[in-house]
Amino acid sequence: MTVLILGAGGQVGSALRWRALARGASTVGLAHNDLDIADREIVRAVIDEVRPTTVINCAGYTDVDGAETDETGAERVNRDGAGHVAAACAPLGVPLIHLSTDYVFDGARPTAWREDDPVSPVGVYARTKEAGERAVRDAWGKHVILRTAWVFGGIGRNFVKTMRRLADQGQTTIRVVDDQRGGPTPAESIADACLDIAERCGSADIVPWGTYHFCGAPSVTWREFAEAVLADRPEVTVTPCASDEFDRPAPRPANSVLDCTRIRAAFGVEQPDWRPYLKRLLGDLGEATEEAS
Ligand SMILES: NC(=O)c1ccc[n+]([C@@H]2O[C@H](COP(=O)([O-])OP(=O)(O)OC[C@H]3O[C@@H](n4cnc5c(N)ncnc54)[C@H](OP(=O)(O)O)[C@@H]3O)[C@@H](O)[C@H]2O)c1
Repeated sequence: MTVLILGAGGQVGSALRWRALARGASTVGLAHNDLDIADREIVRAVIDEVRPTTVINCAGYTDVDGAETDETGAERVNRDGAGHVAAACAPLGVPLIHLSTDYVFDGARPTAWREDDPVSPVGVYARTKEAGERAVRDAWGKHVILRTAWVFGGIGRNFVKTMRRLADQGQTTIRVVDDQRGGPTPAESIADACLDIAERCGSADIVPWGTYHFCGAPSVTWREFAEAVLADRPEVTVTPCASDEFDRPAPRPANSVLDCTRIRAAFGVEQPDWRPYLKRLLGDLGEATEEAS
């Protein structure tokens, strides 16, 4: 099995590389500098040359606020790039695992979202990701679209690292929104879920292609998540506030909790408890700070 990882320099892409190594899976990882997924011809040529058993597309335009003033840039990657990858996989018969987002839902419902709930993306990033899902479905049937949420890990930028940085800089009060709920998801657990699915794609089993949800449990608000991230920093007070108190360019769904029953039934992939992953990450970040000082 050779898995081709696109967007291999990002949070999920990096986690995929090291989880694959740990599991003894062979991979080719291409970061943005190596391959621009918006370049249709290059995408086709690279996938044709590598001839992987599965492609995992983690590449994305993920600057949610930046996308509001760069719709063309976000479309180019999230919609067109996704379509190019799927179109390149199709003639070679290569299965595609494509990452998508909880933001395809508007969040205006209190219960967890299921895969067959109608999508209603709000904001440019969300709309381009949803358009990317359609581009994948239109181009190639052998796909697994994995919608995930609130990703955190050791590589790249994320909420956990931002909270720790603010605390390290001496901030003693941090205001965090308390009216958005979701499932924090370790990048590492997404990587393992993708590799479990990739193994199935490479087997003789019938694969239940389609769209799946995968996020961490228990669900929390950003304020609750911040409190978990800063539990060992009693000098920092996390103050709850409402989304409309923050002047952010892109709207965010109030409830983006994903129902993850389908992926367990189809692939035996369990919803991860994010808390032990967070504990380990905080330990790693602490060690890195000590080494640097
Ligand atoms: N982060 C989250 O909370 C979250 C939540 C739900 C879903 N997702 C989805 O999960 C996937 C992975 O997210 P992530 O957190 O790993 O994001 P990330 O850390 O921002 O990684 C995305 C990677 O894609 C690369 N990229 C951007 N444009 C590209 C292009 N045209 N061609 C090739 N690579 C390109 C980026 O490289 P540069 O940085 O060099 O541009 C970056 O390394 C994305 O599809 C995202 O939409 C993420």
